[in-house]
Amino acid sequence: MPKSWFAGGVALIAASAVSCGVTASPVADALVPSEPTMINYVDPSWVHGLSTQTLSEGDSGDRHVHVVYPSVDDAPLLTEKLRRTVTERLDRFIRDTSMNSAVRHPEFNVDWQLAAASDQVLGVRLRIGESIGSGWSDSFTTIWYDRMEKRSLDATDLLRDGSSLATLAQIVKEALVARGPEVDPYAIKPDARHFDSLVFNPHGDLVVEFDDYQVATKSLGRVAVAVPASDVEPLLSATGLRAQRAAMRKTDAPASMTSGESMAAATTDRPPARSSKAGSVDCAKAKCVALTYDDGPGPDTRRLLDILATQRARATFFTVGSNASAHPELLRRMRQEGHLVANHTWSHRDLTALPGSRVADQLTRAQRTIIQAIGQVPALMRPPYGASNAQVSSVAGKLGLSVVRWSVDTEDRLDPNPRAVADRAVSRAEPGAIILMHDVHGPTVDAAPEILRRLKKQGYTFVTVPELYGSNGMQPGRTYDSADSSG
Ligand code: NI
Repeated sequence: MPKSWFAGGVALIAASAVSCGVTASPVADALVPSEPTMINYVDPSWVHGLSTQTLSEGDSGDRHVHVVYPSVDDAPLLTEKLRRTVTERLDRFIRDTSMNSAVRHPEFNVDWQLAAASDQVLGVRLRIGESIGSGWSDSFTTIWYDRMEKRSLDATDLLRDGSSLATLAQIVKEALVARGPEVDPYAIKPDARHFDSLVFNPHGDLVVEFDDYQVATKSLGRVAVAVPASDVEPLLSATGLRAQRAAMRKTDAPASMTSGESMAAATTDRPPARSSKAGSVDCAKAKCVALTYDDGPGPDTRRLLDILATQRARATFFTVGSNASAHPELLRRMRQEGHLVANHTWSHRDLTALPGSRVADQLTRAQRTIIQAIGQVPALMRPPYGASNAQVSSVAGKLGLSVVRWSVDTEDRLDPNPRAVADRAVSRAEPGAIILMHDVHGPTVDAAPEILRRLKKQGYTFVTVPELYGSNGMQPGRTYDSADSSG
C-alpha cells in the first residue's frame, strides 16, 4: 500500500458520501482525493437467501420509525443478532420519546450495507440514525458472521484479544491526534463500544468508524481511520483474517462517479416507467381504483405478486431503494406483469427534515437502483410518512418525479388482522381512490385476495396510479392524492 494512503491518518467526509463505495459529494472529493476509509460494499443481490426485514409504526403517527435490516437464510444467528441490535436501540428510542412528548416528529431510521460477503464470512454494517429534538445523529455498528465457525460476532471479535484492542486503540488515537483540535482523541478507549464498527477496505486496511459526537463535540460528518493492512494483520483473529480476505477479494467494485453523472448516464437513453398494460382501461368510463404498496420489496412481495397475477389486478409499488437493491428480480417481475415501479426514497427518511441536497440524494440513489433493475425511469415518488413541502416538490420536479400521496389509508402497518385491513380498504374505497398499503407487512398480503374479490364485486378495475389521470397525464413536481387532484 502506498504511504500516501495513510497520510493525515483520518479522513472526514460527509455522511452522504458513503454510498456503495461511490463518492457522491463534491466536497468530499476536494478534501480526500483517494479516500482510504471508503468501503466497497457488496451488492446484496449476489448473496443467496438474503432478504430484508422492515420494522415501522406506519405513516400516520407523530413518531417516525423505519428500520430495515437483512436476514440470511443459512445464517439465522446473524439475523437474530441484527434483530436484537436494532430492537434494543429502537426500544430505547421509544422509551426516550415517550418521556419527552414535547418533541415533534422524533425520527428513528436504520439502514444497512454489506461490508463483506464470501463463503467464509458475512459483514453487515448498520447505520442507526435518530433525532429526538436536538438534531440528527448517526451511529455505526458492524455485525459479523463466521460461516466456518457458524457464529455471529461483534466487530471486536475480528481482533485476536484484549491486547490487540489496546494496540489498535493506540494506533487510532495517534491518527486522531494528527487530525487537529476539533477531534478529541482522548475520548477513545480500548472499549468494545468505541470499536463497534470495524470493516476492511479493498486493500485490506482496517477501517475504524466512529459515531457522531463520539470523538468530537459537534458533528463533523463521518470520522473514520484506516489502519494499514500490515499494521493490523498481527492483531486479527481467525475471523478477522477471513473478513480481510473477503474484502480484498472484491475486484469488481463499481467505477467511482458522482450521483449526478450516473443519473445523467442512466436517464438519457431510458424510457419512462409505465405499466405495460396502460391504456387498456379508460378510467373516465370505468370505475378505477389504484392499489399502492409501499416500503418493499420484502419477504411477502413474491406472494403478493402471485395473488395479483391470479386476479389479473395491477398495482403501483413504491419501493425503498435499499430493498430494491437486494431484490432487483422482483422489480423486473413487477414490470413484466403490468405493475408500476415507483420511488419511495433510498432509506425512508422524513424528507421534510433534510436539506435539499440530501432530498435529492435520497431520490437519486433509489432512482438509480430502480433504473438498473427495470431499465425504465420511474416517474412517481411517494414521500415517506406522506411528509412533503415546497422543497420536496421542487426537488422531485427537477428529477422528473410527480409526488403521490393517497386518499385512503388502510392503517395496515400495525394491524395483525387481515380481515380488518380488508374491511378498511373496501369500505373507504371510492372511484379514483389511491389506497395506501405496505407489502412488507404479512397481514396486508393476506388481506389482498379479499380486497380484490370484494372491490371487483363492486365493479372496480385495478389500475396503476397514472392511469387514473388518463390523457391529462401527471406533471413532475405536482402532488396527487386521488383522481380528483387532476382537477
Ligand atoms: Ni413508507
